[in-house]
Amino acid sequence: MTLSKTTAPLFRPFEGGRLKLDNRIVMAPMTRSYSPNGVPGPDVAGYYRRRAENGVGLIITEGTVINHPASAADHNVPHFYGEEALEGWARVVREVHEAGGKIAPQIWHTGTARERKKFPDSNADPIGPSGLSLTGEPVSEPMTALEIRGIVQAYAQAAADAKRIGFDAVEIHGAHGYLIDQFFWDVTNKRTDEYGGDLIGRTRFAVEVIEAVRAAVGPDFPVIFRYSQWKSVNYDAKLAANPEELERFLSRLSAAGVDIFHASTRRFWEPEFEGSDLNLAGWTRKLTGKPAITVGSVGLDSDVTSLFTEGKGGQPASIDSLIERLERGEFDLVAVGRALLSDPAWAAKIREDRSEELKPFTREALATLS
Ligand SMILES: Cc1cc2nc3c(=O)[nH]c(=O)nc-3n(C[C@H](O)[C@H](O)[C@H](O)COP(=O)(O)O)c2cc1C
Repeated sequence: MTLSKTTAPLFRPFEGGRLKLDNRIVMAPMTRSYSPNGVPGPDVAGYYRRRAENGVGLIITEGTVINHPASAADHNVPHFYGEEALEGWARVVREVHEAGGKIAPQIWHTGTARERKKFPDSNADPIGPSGLSLTGEPVSEPMTALEIRGIVQAYAQAAADAKRIGFDAVEIHGAHGYLIDQFFWDVTNKRTDEYGGDLIGRTRFAVEVIEAVRAAVGPDFPVIFRYSQWKSVNYDAKLAANPEELERFLSRLSAAGVDIFHASTRRFWEPEFEGSDLNLAGWTRKLTGKPAITVGSVGLDSDVTSLFTEGKGGQPASIDSLIERLERGEFDLVAVGRALLSDPAWAAKIREDRSEELKPFTREALATLS
């Protein structure tokens, strides 16, 4: 099978949003849960190094949690605080750089997507803007102003540490129904103070996080912000129903100091709003004037939902229409998830037109860190 007429546009260097990359391929952040007690070991470093060796332009790490007793929902998700975990990450950075790659951590707080009695501290309650789960059930008290200030500072500290230990950028996880997105979404944010209300009020927490991160890393360090309309419990959820709402939402985040937006969708070819072919990344780029990363089923014939809901894999698929959109300037960078999870050499195979060597993605790929 020929996967694409030409893949050259994917391999053009990128310069924008304070970041310079050798090509347009980004490894999407994917939780792997291979960091016992929150510490990424040499196997995690090797896993990322292999993607860098095989020509991924920018690696965004799996979600790695900020310093808070209720930030993680799994014992083996890496921490982004504490000497041991940060030393583990410094090794990851070193190995990726030795292989000629670039890397950003995705800093994360799960909010109320974490159940009670989970990690890192099993005594800590989950936190969220209104203490509501993603299905709207009360699970804890609404966050206090003091808690909000503490969490904002924890994001800023994580970003400062990312810069200090040599990462090339930082990505703030504002997507998929986790803490920041719980402030954005009216199902989980019922606050009546300045952190709630309309969509603008609901961006306030993210704006404070972005501003604090920017202040912590200085003017030149690239800050990427990932957001999504969909939530892990509701793939049809929408934060913005039309381009005007999206513009109001994004302009606040952009002004707060985002350099590059990462618009998370499940299928890159789907128009976001009626009357235009643009996908969410396309709209994001158009409305903010900032570089945008697209994502969703690149190189595979199934989407990530089918993995999470049915445990399904996927077969290699053409990327012709992706290349056409990239050529048209709809977006700047292309994130690849499952295809790169199952095959560290995916980018090299695309570049060298070795399409017959591309592998299917199977759920067994999750069972190893290869
Ligand atoms: C196993 C797995 C773990 C994931 N973990 C994260 C995560 O930690 N943070 C995040 O923003 N997205 C996460 N995602 C979503 C991916 O980043 C990506 O957006 C999604 O898989 C769609 O891309 P794909 O179709 O190329 O796989 C995860 C996806 C998978 C398959």
